[in-house]
Amino acid sequence: MYIPASLPVHVRPEMDRMAEYIPGESLEAFSSRTGIPIHQLVKLNSNESPYPPAPAVTHALGNHAFYNNYPDTNSTDLRSALATYTGVESKHIVVSHGSNELINLLWHIFLSVGDNIICCPPTFSLYTFITTFCGAYVLEVPRTEGYEVDVEGILAALTPETKLIVLCSPNNPTGNPLCEEDVLALLETGRIVMVDEAYVEFSQQPRGLAHLVPQYRNLVVMRTFSKWAGLAGLRIGYGIFPEWIVTYMKRAQCPFEVNVAGHIAAIETLHQLDYTLANVQRIVEERERLFTLLSHQPYLEPLPSQGNFILARIREEEIRMDELKRVVESYGILLRYFNHPYLRNFVRVTVGLPEHTERLALAFSKIENR
Ligand SMILES: Cc1ncc(COP(=O)(O)O)c(C=O)c1O
Repeated sequence: MYIPASLPVHVRPEMDRMAEYIPGESLEAFSSRTGIPIHQLVKLNSNESPYPPAPAVTHALGNHAFYNNYPDTNSTDLRSALATYTGVESKHIVVSHGSNELINLLWHIFLSVGDNIICCPPTFSLYTFITTFCGAYVLEVPRTEGYEVDVEGILAALTPETKLIVLCSPNNPTGNPLCEEDVLALLETGRIVMVDEAYVEFSQQPRGLAHLVPQYRNLVVMRTFSKWAGLAGLRIGYGIFPEWIVTYMKRAQCPFEVNVAGHIAAIETLHQLDYTLANVQRIVEERERLFTLLSHQPYLEPLPSQGNFILARIREEEIRMDELKRVVESYGILLRYFNHPYLRNFVRVTVGLPEHTERLALAFSKIENR
């Protein structure tokens, strides 16, 4: 094979500024690293649901007879079920291959090379990766001491190149929700205000801000079936957009991105809402037990959370992060540790089943008796 010594093509320069996004470790990778079999592991590192979807969902998936055909690229039935669920007309709704896909598309629609977004760390780090991918920049306006969004700080940071203000509610990983007045104040800037509501079903305002979208030309709300509905593996998300942005999202999205299985599972989940929301309620109750457990450890300071996860600061004067990690991992438990400067000595724990909280308690008792 002929390979020229130097190629006449180069990658875009921003690719060299871009690091790879590192998600929570998979069961497979953890198992081969530690030698603990997969069936003995407790996965509390990616905010997935510990509950499988309703039996009617798996039944419908097994009974579908047309996997040989492409899906309905307009997602008409799913968008109409989502209109009933969200209370917003389906003309505002775009369905996607996980909400990550929507973030990627929205960013590419609005950001040209040299533009910027405003982000409020600590928050979901994918926003930064995709900004760099677009050749744009992140202006960081850190959260206040209580992890609230600093509205004054955002207003002061705006530049003519600012296209997007990115908010997350409840925020991953701090778990606190946004307050509506802050969002209304930021909408006044005329920038696109994106509110990521991936965890809204676990919060005290489970309807979120979707109902406001039809009243504003610059408000976007992102949602997902990955967390509350136990469908992370099927990759299905949706967004609620002003109509003029919907037309651009449709141009930007490749056809058939949401597969047939994703459509079936999401529609059936919305038909089985009582079943799925009962599991959400179980997770909310378990969150209380987990919070109590974490707050009883002298080396942890958990933050109150309205998501299906709890962030805790590790008191490094009591225990080193790598020591905590070593003991917890020896019990087959996967947690999320960060290397981001804002989260250097924090650990995030996804809320699991009661027996998962108990396994964690066992690991903590080992630390206590060291
Ligand atoms: C805040 C936030 N937004 C979006 C996502 C991505 O969700 P999806 O699985 O729908 O791509 C996640 C996943 O962890 C998240 O934490």
